[in-house]
Formats: sequence, C-alpha cells, structure tokens
Amino acid sequence: MQANIVVLPGDGIGPEVTAAAIAVLNEVARRRGHGFAFAEHDIGGIAIDRHDDPLPAATLEACKRADAVLLGAVGGPKWSDPNAKVRPEQGLLALRKGLGLYANLRPVRPHPAALGASPIKAELLQGVDIVVVRELTGGIYFGDKTRTATAASDLCAYSVAEIERVVRSSFRLAERRKGRVTSVDKANVLETSRLWRDVAARIGRVEFPGVELEHQLVDSMAMHLLAKPREYDVIVTENMFGDILTDEASMLAGSLGLLPSASLGDGSIGVYEPIHGSAPDIAGKGVANPYATILSAALLLRHSLDLHDEAGQVEDAVGKALDDRQFTADLGGRLGTAEATQAVLQRL
Ligand code: NAD
Ligand code: IPM
Ligand code: MN
Repeated sequence: MQANIVVLPGDGIGPEVTAAAIAVLNEVARRRGHGFAFAEHDIGGIAIDRHDDPLPAATLEACKRADAVLLGAVGGPKWSDPNAKVRPEQGLLALRKGLGLYANLRPVRPHPAALGASPIKAELLQGVDIVVVRELTGGIYFGDKTRTATAASDLCAYSVAEIERVVRSSFRLAERRKGRVTSVDKANVLETSRLWRDVAARIGRVEFPGVELEHQLVDSMAMHLLAKPREYDVIVTENMFGDILTDEASMLAGSLGLLPSASLGDGSIGVYEPIHGSAPDIAGKGVANPYATILSAALLLRHSLDLHDEAGQVEDAVGKALDDRQFTADLGGRLGTAEATQAVLQRL
C-alpha cells in the first residue's frame, strides 16, 4: 500500500527515536512492498525557534492530510522559562485537539526478559497485560487558566459527550480483550469525576452488558497498579490521571523507554508517540531507548494503515531483541540507540 506519514521529531531525544522508528518502517515497506512517504515538519521547541509557534499552521495542515503521524517528543529547558509566552507542550496539545484525537491508548505489557529492570517483584509482573485509555482532549489540560500576581487557576471541565466517546472506546477494546474495564476517577471529591462515573456506569449497563465494569478512585488505583497489576485489563480515565498513571505503569515494564502510545479519534488518522518526553538529560548522546517509538510505529501500522501482520512483526522483532538482552542503558544494558535499532532490524 501507499501511505503518507508525517514525522514530527520535535525536541531532545525526539529526533533520535523517530529516526529509529523510520528505519524500521522503511524496512517493513521494503520487505512487504509498501510505499511509505515520510514528510518531516516542526513541532514544539524547534517550531518556536523557527516559526515563533509551537504548532505552525503548515504542520497541522500536513498532519490533517496525512495517513498517520509519528511524533518524537517536545519540550526542554531552553523553552521552560516560567515567564515564556508560549511553551512547546502547547503545540502537542493543539495537535491532539486539532486532529480530534480524544482516546490515547497506552499498552503496558512487561516483557519477560526485561522484568529484572523493573523495581517491582518479577512474580507480580508475569502475565501483566493492560491498556490504559487516557482521555486526551479535555479536562484540566484544556479548561480556562487564570494567573494574577497572587493567584492562579486551571479549570477542569468535561461534557457528557466527551466522557461517552472515550468510555465507549475503552469498552470496545475490552470486548476484544478480557472483557474488563476499570474506570478511574476521584468521585469522592471532584464533580467532573461524579459525572464521569455516572456516564461510565450507564454506557456499561446499556451498551456493553457483557463487559465487567469496576470503578476505582485514582489514589488507591496508583497503589493497586503496583500491588496487583495482573488484575487489570482496560483502564479508562481522564486526561491528567491517565498521564500520571502511565508514567507509573512504565515501571511495570521496566522503563519509560518501552511504552508506546496511539492517539485516536473517529477517523483512521492517529498520532503515534512514545509516552516519554524529550529526556533533556540524555539528549544528543545517542543512548535513548528507541523501543517505545518503534512500538509506536507498530501501533501506527495497525491502527492507521490496517497492516496487522506487519504491526505484529515489528512487535515480535522488539520482543526478540529484548529476549536477546539487546538493552539500552535504561534497561541496564550498554547499547546505544543505533545499535538497539539494528538489533530490531536484524530480527524483523
Ligand atoms: P522525560 O520522559 O523526558 O524523562 C524522564 C526520565 O526518563 C529522564 O531521566 C529520561 O532520561 C528518562 N527517559 C525518558 N525517555 C527515555 C528513553 N527513551 N530512553 C532512556 N531514558 C529515557 O520527562 P521529563 O524529564 O519530566 O520531561 C522533559 C521534557 O519533556 C519536558 O519539557 C516535558 O514537558 C516534556 N515531555 C514531553 C512529552 C511528549 O512530547 N509527549 C512527554 C513527556 C514529557
Ligand atoms: C505526555 C506528556 C504531555 C501530556 C505533555 C508534554 C503535554 O506528558 O504525552 O504524556 O501531559 O500529555
Ligand atoms: Mn506524560
């Protein structure tokens, strides 16, 4: 098949890890006779430097016309002055919003060979297979903000429609998995969470009676996620809780450098990016773990291009590289980004 893929390398280790994923996608295309065309555009800090705008109109337009978007990461100390009028992260938020990508899928499947990299006991990790569905275009990230000399506020707002669509995505996903949804909220304190819980309960009862639904408060969820991760199948939650819980969940897999994500809406276009950031502490050194971005490319093949075989092959190749202990430093190994990428290419 022919596909147009927009690549947004962004900042820090972004360009290093997207280069790795492009190498893998090119190898998939070569072996399977596909034609993938890659077009690079600016987002984040580099876009502020070059265009004074973290999401230039040309970037958003190119993404809208593309079949899929592969993104590295945005942000870094250079653009983190608290008084700056615009930040790189705003570009990413505007991209998600502009493409209507309300459901962010973050799979967490610790690999047997990498269990030693996790601070959690290996016996708790065997068989863990979770997908966190994070709401991505609402909540406190997008509500009105105020700032005066003596106070500040961020509004957290959700509509019924916004909750319904992401909760439905999580139930549909659970139907194809183990049939269990855990809806995470803070309904003992927040009004948005009480609405969230009502809507999730109704969607479950009326539309998905065959799926088991449980509600969990976010604070105890943070604890259960480490204490009994095998109990969970699909976890659905609002924007900020999902952000925090998935960085926590990365420790089940052993590294932030292993967790991919797919941001999806109602159409086939999606943004595919690792859940980690621009890692300024290791940027430019060639040591970043590329596996999360390569696994994000596998999600791109599956969700936007419908290339299910190819997606599985990329995931298997990363799995085999891990089996063979082809580890970057975050996993306790010595490989650099380029060598880890080669390890995947050789096993494709
Ligand atoms: P971070 O995820 O960039 O890094 C956290 C820690 O994990 C660092 O020690 C880093 O070296 C390590 N790490 C992350 N990815 C790694 C990889 N692939 N291989 C090896 N180690 C890896 O989080 P942070 O330091 O809190 O944030 C840095 C910047 O990134 C901030 O500006 C933040 O806003 C931004 N950020 C962007 C995204 C995104 O673009 N999607 C996501 C998270 C954070
Ligand atoms: C992520 C990041 C972003 C978020 C930031 C950079 C805006 O942490 O993708 O997880 O909070 O969504
Ligand atoms: Mn995050």
